[in-house]
Amino acid sequence: SSKYAEPFRIKSVEMLKETTPEYRRKVLEGVGYNLFKVKADDIYIDCLTDSGTSAMSDRQWAALMTGDESYVGNRCFYDYEKAIQDLFGFQYVIPTHQGRAAEQLLARMLYPKRPQAKYVLANMAFDSTRAAAIIHGVTAIDLLEPAGYDTIHEHPFKGNLSTEKLEAFIQEHGVDSIAWVQMIVTCNSNGGQPVSMANIKACGEIAHKYGLAYIADCARCFENAYFIKEREPGYQDKTIREICLEMFSYFDYAFMSIKKDGLVNMGGFFCCREQSMYDVAWVDNMNYEGHATYGGLAGRDLAAIAVGLYEGSDYRYLKGRIGQVQYLGERLDEFGVPYVRPVGGNGVYIDARKFYPDIAPEHFPGLCLAADLYLKEGIRVSELGASAFSYKDDKGVIHYPEIDLVRIAISRRVYTNSHMDLIAETLGELFKSGSPNFKGMDKSDWYGATTHFTSSYTP
Ligand code: F0G
Repeated sequence: SSKYAEPFRIKSVEMLKETTPEYRRKVLEGVGYNLFKVKADDIYIDCLTDSGTSAMSDRQWAALMTGDESYVGNRCFYDYEKAIQDLFGFQYVIPTHQGRAAEQLLARMLYPKRPQAKYVLANMAFDSTRAAAIIHGVTAIDLLEPAGYDTIHEHPFKGNLSTEKLEAFIQEHGVDSIAWVQMIVTCNSNGGQPVSMANIKACGEIAHKYGLAYIADCARCFENAYFIKEREPGYQDKTIREICLEMFSYFDYAFMSIKKDGLVNMGGFFCCREQSMYDVAWVDNMNYEGHATYGGLAGRDLAAIAVGLYEGSDYRYLKGRIGQVQYLGERLDEFGVPYVRPVGGNGVYIDARKFYPDIAPEHFPGLCLAADLYLKEGIRVSELGASAFSYKDDKGVIHYPEIDLVRIAISRRVYTNSHMDLIAETLGELFKSGSPNFKGMDKSDWYGATTHFTSSYTP
């Protein structure tokens, strides 16, 4: 509908390959029904992720051409640094090639300072946070408010970290067992759900009361700021930048995968307020990512980021971007498709057990849905359920997650609302017909740990 009309027009286009259902069936058989192994050329609409998949603007492409490729002190770094200082309010900025590199840098600096630490506390940690913790012998603990686990009822801030659970965990396990408190804005793992300003502030107060560092994982922080402006009393008249500056004022450190809200294909940063921390980060990052004025990025990448961060925090852009995801949600409502409500910032997350109730969780309903979407229209999505998170323990017992979600991640400025229509109508038909092609899948290999990138399945 017209209220969701895109706020841009298209200047450069990329043709997509057309394939037949017979061809796609062969592709699926060839990859053991694992969509992570399908070549991107064989996809029509790719909703696997919203990371690094944005379309850059004319201004970003123009900035790219002005990239300064000097080894140190390149001009683009200073533009990049200034944009981050301006939008996030931190004085010291360290560039990295992507988000996880910034998080690993932080982990290498902070974990040794907390030798007793066994846990890092979060609203809901993304895989890369879990991985960074495991390397240091630490476990990431999710402390979402109960509303965050409820896929049916609407709640404006399902990414909120429960202040009760946070206090209780610290009391029960002792401050020394905790590395720090981390807030993921928006919360990707439960549906791209936002965290309220009140909750960001309250959790910071608790962390600081116990002397714990408070860290922002801000991959999708502009989308979070947009939701605060739209939903939280007192923020309607504030700009996205003002909301961001307040949000980050509560944190000690922040790191970002700029591949999401920064509207670029590669990039990250770590930032802090103290020179002493910056000095340590400077030396450490030099060994892993390169000199602190490029950090694994070409000068032209830094130039595109400096522009992309401003475009990504522009209200009109965000309204169109999140509007597109909401449009997809509204179209799905016409067919009664069960998804996490309300839709989040970066996509629609389908509840696969409700979508295919006849397929038992042990037989991967989410994977069946992902395979059906590919078979029917060449649409690729990612399963965030039994395939991604189940594992076999030392005793050979298989553990399954509590919910099976299928994420339809929407890339920024890439697809049109006609693509959303096709996704919605395809899902509508599949929902009506009830797993037309697959009655369940079996996993043909179990390695003990999460192996969703590599496993094979048989229908
Ligand atoms: N934090 C969050 C919340 C993320 O969603 C991601 C990546 C990262 C950190 C790591 O950033 O990929 O630049 O190293 N999420 C992608 C996704 C991969 O598909 O959701 P990275």
